[in-house]
Amino acid sequence: VRVGDLPTPALVVDAGALAANLDTMAHALPGARLRPHVKAHKCSELAREQIARGHPGLTVATPREALGLAAADLGTDLLVANQVLDPVRLRALTECGARVTVAVDSDATVAAAVAVGIREVLIDVSVGMPRCGCEPADAARIADRARAAGVAVRGIMGYEGHVVGVPDRAERAAGVAAATEILLAAHAAVGGDVISAGGTTTYDLHTVATEIQAGSYALMDTAYGAFGLPFTVAVGIVATVLHVGARHAVADCGLKALGMDHGDPTIDDADVWFCSDEHVTFASRHPLTVGDRVVVRPAHVDPTIAMHEHLHVAEAVHPDADVLASWPVDLRGWDPPDTRR
Ligand SMILES: Cc1ncc(COP(=O)(O)O)c(C=O)c1O
Repeated sequence: VRVGDLPTPALVVDAGALAANLDTMAHALPGARLRPHVKAHKCSELAREQIARGHPGLTVATPREALGLAAADLGTDLLVANQVLDPVRLRALTECGARVTVAVDSDATVAAAVAVGIREVLIDVSVGMPRCGCEPADAARIADRARAAGVAVRGIMGYEGHVVGVPDRAERAAGVAAATEILLAAHAAVGGDVISAGGTTTYDLHTVATEIQAGSYALMDTAYGAFGLPFTVAVGIVATVLHVGARHAVADCGLKALGMDHGDPTIDDADVWFCSDEHVTFASRHPLTVGDRVVVRPAHVDPTIAMHEHLHVAEAVHPDADVLASWPVDLRGWDPPDTRR
């Protein structure tokens, strides 16, 4: 099968570029120094490639991702780097056969974990991003509470999400340094072996983190592609041209096939005007015919992936290239997978 024969919109990854991204990161952060974040691809076959490169543990954002990895026999050491209160989903984590560590940042999240028998947690500390994570001064108290309930506290995590989008590397490094001060103090207060932090744009700026939670590096997107990182944009959406007007063309890759929160997608040799539900409207600098295929590059990979059923691995993201494999994006959604099949 050729890429151009796939029904569209088709999510396609360049096998060589993917392998190079995975190899480059495995070289920079070998073994357990990288805990790849699977939320960026939601694909257990891709997670298998990451584990094959020597990273034993994985990061997930949802119980669904952890349960899918466990079902795929990839559950050696899973970190749910997120707060979970739902007792059904939390209990499923204790029954899936994987080693699962859960992030907690409050009495309520500790209580929810304890109630279902979660055995290991990390204390999630805010390092400046207004999202989850306890105040650093509260970390020791929350850790004590978990330990008093018989839960092992493996250490801390603190994701510097407010820093990762800063384009200037020196400014990013300064942001990581400020986060590092907080991580160090929290780690001293909490104890444990793990200091988990970081992402694709800060993977080489951390000095005290024992593991980096990068995920986007595998597939990349146009936003992170502009950062001058040693990872290339490996993924694209192949779309079919549905309409050619006097000044614009339309292809079948709209909002429902693309994460748009980091901006419009790009199309080579064209100016993208806008996206609507099922369409991208653009002006091509070369003539197009209805039925042609174009490659649409997403600005934000994580939400893009979550909209597709398959990740097609091909020799290139090009209509004439051969498809080598079609991996299910099997970790999508929120409901636990049916493991009784
Ligand atoms: C908790 C957490 N860790 C790490 C990351 C890093 O991901 P990326 O590789 O996209 O920078 C994210 C991204 O949002 C995150 O939410």
